[in-house]
Amino acid sequence: MTRLSSLKGTLATAFGAAADAYHSAADVQREVASRLARRIAGLSLAARPRVLEIGCGTGFLYHALAPDLGGAAWLLTDLSEAMVRRARATLAGRPAGIAVMDGEMPSLPPASFDLICASLVFQWFEDLPRSLHGLADLLAPGGALVFSTLTAESFPEWRAAHQEIGARSAVRRYPTMKDIARMSPEGMSMTLDVESIARPYRNAHAFLAHWKEIGTHVPDASRPPLTPGTMRKLLRRFDDGITVTYQVAYVTIIKA
Ligand SMILES: C[S@@+](CC[C@H](N)C(=O)[O-])C[C@H]1O[C@@H](n2cnc3c(N)ncnc32)[C@H](O)[C@@H]1O
Repeated sequence: MTRLSSLKGTLATAFGAAADAYHSAADVQREVASRLARRIAGLSLAARPRVLEIGCGTGFLYHALAPDLGGAAWLLTDLSEAMVRRARATLAGRPAGIAVMDGEMPSLPPASFDLICASLVFQWFEDLPRSLHGLADLLAPGGALVFSTLTAESFPEWRAAHQEIGARSAVRRYPTMKDIARMSPEGMSMTLDVESIARPYRNAHAFLAHWKEIGTHVPDASRPPLTPGTMRKLLRRFDDGITVTYQVAYVTIIKA
């Protein structure tokens, strides 16, 4: 793989360190992968489709979808070597290829897949519109690019608490639904819908520890970290519990 940017190096390290815990702890990600799989299973795809998965993690989407795509030829990929190793272990005996690959720089032949899918990966991309164009080139005519991703309306409770104490959250800036709608590659049709998933945590420590455990804690590097005093103020607001809402966009792009 070519040299990784600093964000990608950080992501590969964070998700790599989380690879063992991820499979049992990443409950929202498992739920979103299963919701995405239901949407993909409802599409009319080529018989025995050639499937590329970007950012496979430990394999939630593959395991949720493979039974509905009998005879599909799968290539699972992820930026993190440790995630790929962990996913490989869950694939034992199944006819699927797997490789380390940066989904923003795929080195694969054009028009070679009938389905490209990714669950909760694209919110980490550095240039999503450009990457969607690149991935669209890998689709055969009639193929589908289907993904779930977090939107800007995610974690309102966390952002509001920052605002109330005069701070800014270091959670990455995700695209709005309007931004996503504008990203459809030319000549392709896009449909999208959005769903929320709320999760309660005992307090903010428990919420942050959970994110760290599953590797999703990588902050927006352009935002200065909170001072210890501001952090204490923030955490105290959630001594009695916190509910965190993930807003997830499900997007289908079809190549004519
Ligand atoms: C939140 S996890 C989701 C994993 C899996 N799709 C799931 O549903 O559980 C994000 C995954 O995306 C991978 N990832 C992040 N940036 C990536 C990139 N540029 N190319 C490929 N994978 C990437 C991470 O290594 C991690 O495994």
